[in-house]
Amino acid sequence: MPNPMPNPETPTAPAAEPGAKKLFIKTYGCQMNVYDSERMAEAMGAKGYVLTDRAEDADMVLLNTCHIREKASEKLYSDLGRLRPLKLERPDLKIGVAGCVAQAEGAEIQRRMPLVDIVVGPQAYHRLPAMAEAKGPQVDTDFPPEDKFDHLPQRKSYRGPTAFLTVQEGCDKFCAFCVVPYTRGAEVSRPAARLMREARDLVARGVREITLLGQNVNGYHGEGETGTWSLGRLIRQLADIDGLDRIRYTTSHPNDMDDDLIAAHGEVPQLMPYLHLPVQSGSDRILKAMNRKHTRDQYFRLIDRIRAVRPDILMTSDFIVGFPGETDQDFADTMDLIRRVGYGAAFSFKYSARPGTPAAEKPPVEAAVADVRLQELQALILDQQRAAQAAMVGREISVLYEKPGRLPGQMVGKSEHLMAVHVEDPAGGVGDLVRARVTAAAANSLAAVPVGVSAAEQGIGAARGIVFRPAPIRRDL
Ligand code: 5AD
Ligand code: SF4
Repeated sequence: MPNPMPNPETPTAPAAEPGAKKLFIKTYGCQMNVYDSERMAEAMGAKGYVLTDRAEDADMVLLNTCHIREKASEKLYSDLGRLRPLKLERPDLKIGVAGCVAQAEGAEIQRRMPLVDIVVGPQAYHRLPAMAEAKGPQVDTDFPPEDKFDHLPQRKSYRGPTAFLTVQEGCDKFCAFCVVPYTRGAEVSRPAARLMREARDLVARGVREITLLGQNVNGYHGEGETGTWSLGRLIRQLADIDGLDRIRYTTSHPNDMDDDLIAAHGEVPQLMPYLHLPVQSGSDRILKAMNRKHTRDQYFRLIDRIRAVRPDILMTSDFIVGFPGETDQDFADTMDLIRRVGYGAAFSFKYSARPGTPAAEKPPVEAAVADVRLQELQALILDQQRAAQAAMVGREISVLYEKPGRLPGQMVGKSEHLMAVHVEDPAGGVGDLVRARVTAAAANSLAAVPVGVSAAEQGIGAARGIVFRPAPIRRDL
């Protein structure tokens, strides 16, 4: 397949031993899938597979899919169509479909696309190596009693300063539009001791920033030595690990932001001043119809409390426009909420009816209306994003270098606020945490120069002084 959309976050290929089997993985969707792809690559690595970034060279192609919106699901079938000539040429090429489409559609995928050898759901990844060796079509969409993490190999191959760590999977919230509770199942939290061990292990291998992942990550309630640990507790314990400089978490539900987690934002310097807290809509009527179980006022109050303990926090969100029954007034309420909160960035989507979800039964908003709303919303968010980026110019920030830049002597990393930063630093290396002064800002990146002292010497949370304000209101909206 002419690598249709190379995913920069899919694990990259180490040099292959001659004769080693090659695995090509394409990852669609969320960070959870990026993490799962890494783990599947490791599981297959234990069987002698090495990664390749060219499907044409692969002995096995794995598509790790996303089912959240119709467009994401349909991408699988167009990519499978593109793989057909390769499979005809080399019938022994194994083709596997993993992830949420695999979970939702199961054997139906093979009926529609007989070239698929393996269908494996997100809870059964540890069985993938055995499935790859078996003959004939394989399907496993069980929610097995054993924990897949117990059966996946240690993350030996990890190199790089940042890592994801899945702490929780599944969701019990049942928002009326969302397939996650069906594809990923009920909320399950991983035991705290295991996570601590895995985090220490990552740090020992050079990781300085860990992003805790979960579909409903702040609903984390893992078994700890002393009773159940909340996410706040887990974060405080992780902050004690020497060498772990940055902690983030995603994705959260407003109703699970408990007092301790909010307090942690003010007290734990390693917890970065960035919070993705999806609200989806700013209309009470639509929030109710979405089964979000909170009002816009409750959301505003929550944000006030978070900003009271960490004024420099950058908020981001997800929005859905054109949810069934959304009127012009409902949409105006969403725009008003955005103006009042002031976001650093947001993902926004046109509502997509998903089979099996309660909202899919309701008459849709006209597509053209939803299109216009989406454009308006995105224009406002872009204004706010630009304003947040521009507010950084002249400030000192900390940057964790992730890779060399395109220009000689340049390093690229992320700021505390998860902004991409290009730093002129010929002496810099991947994994350095440096302090830098921002010299220019574009919508998606900052330019900066080092200020000569390491962030560790100066303390983390360099941009503490900043307060993000809502962007100026555009007159043409
Ligand atoms: N239609 C559109 N967007 C959706 N999302 C989830 N389900 C749907 C859907 N049916 C969006 C939500 C969620 C993000 C991951 O995807 O905004 O927060
Ligand atoms: Fe889906 Fe998130 Fe709602 Fe859970 S909380 S049902 S994952 S949108």
